[in-house]
Amino acid sequence: MSAKASAPGKAILVGEHAVVYGMPAIALPLSGIRANATFRATRSPLTLIAEDLARPPLTIDTGSIESSDPLALMAALTVQYFGLESLQGEIRVQSDIPIASGLGSGAAVSAAIGRVIAQFHGAIIPNEALNRLVFEVEKEHHGTPSGIDNTVVVYELPVYFSKGGSLDFLEFADPLWILLADSGIASLTRDAVADVRTQVRLAPAQSARVFDDIGSIVNEARDCIDYSNGARLGELMSANHRLLQALNVSCPELDHLVEAALHAGALGAKLSGGGRGGNIIALVEEETAPAVKQCLIEAGARQVMLTVAGQGSQIDDSD
Ligand code: PMV
Repeated sequence: MSAKASAPGKAILVGEHAVVYGMPAIALPLSGIRANATFRATRSPLTLIAEDLARPPLTIDTGSIESSDPLALMAALTVQYFGLESLQGEIRVQSDIPIASGLGSGAAVSAAIGRVIAQFHGAIIPNEALNRLVFEVEKEHHGTPSGIDNTVVVYELPVYFSKGGSLDFLEFADPLWILLADSGIASLTRDAVADVRTQVRLAPAQSARVFDDIGSIVNEARDCIDYSNGARLGELMSANHRLLQALNVSCPELDHLVEAALHAGALGAKLSGGGRGGNIIALVEEETAPAVKQCLIEAGARQVMLTVAGQGSQIDDSD
């Protein structure tokens, strides 16, 4: 007996970091890049194999939620959710989502593990419950997450999210053409979030102003999505990047990619996710996408992916 499940990557369109402090943010699922999990019945204790994540096979104590390993914790939480006494078998994880690059790899792997265990058990785990379990793992292993990553990855819909507040699924009047360009620099969101927290402690009023400005950008961006105003949405994304620079979470490589995208005709561009590395996100038009993509590659991007948000799950990562 076997089972199979998956969950997508994600990108933050606007609002990262400020979302940790209660501001809204907008995130998009990247349905074309996924974490996949398979479950195979064996007569041995539950084992987790995730070669893509550069980890040795791990035997999981499903009775313990004290695990120092996020994937093991997710498996244990799911086993407990279903009230199982124990579980034998082998979970294999394969992921197309680059790790430590702001694309939601950790949340997607957790969601895929939760779903595959549910499916093997002959059940479905409701998104609301899965979201709660993945958030538990994020909290345990990623510092002080806002919850946006697990939410967009589990529901696989564009979201307008604020911590402890709104969760609205967005509909796009027109699709958004988006390029994601990878700086090739691995960066831990946890560290960037911790540094922002230090800044908040040292300069609370100044940080609060930046967060407020980002919050206003997110709300106006939502209107732009509702009314198909791509030109203004692009300006807002670029303004968001400048505020993220002020928060000290950009880096020269990300700034360089943002400038290259704008120079090549993108409507707007910014870092996406924790920053200090990972990806930038650029808003383009169907006609300008190839030229902007080429410029990003020439500017040093390791990989450039095209995704069309609001129009199914198209992704082209032919480079
Ligand atoms: O996981 P990343 O790198 O996409 O970043 C998540 C967004 C942050 O706002 C930086 C952190 C959070 O928990 O919301």
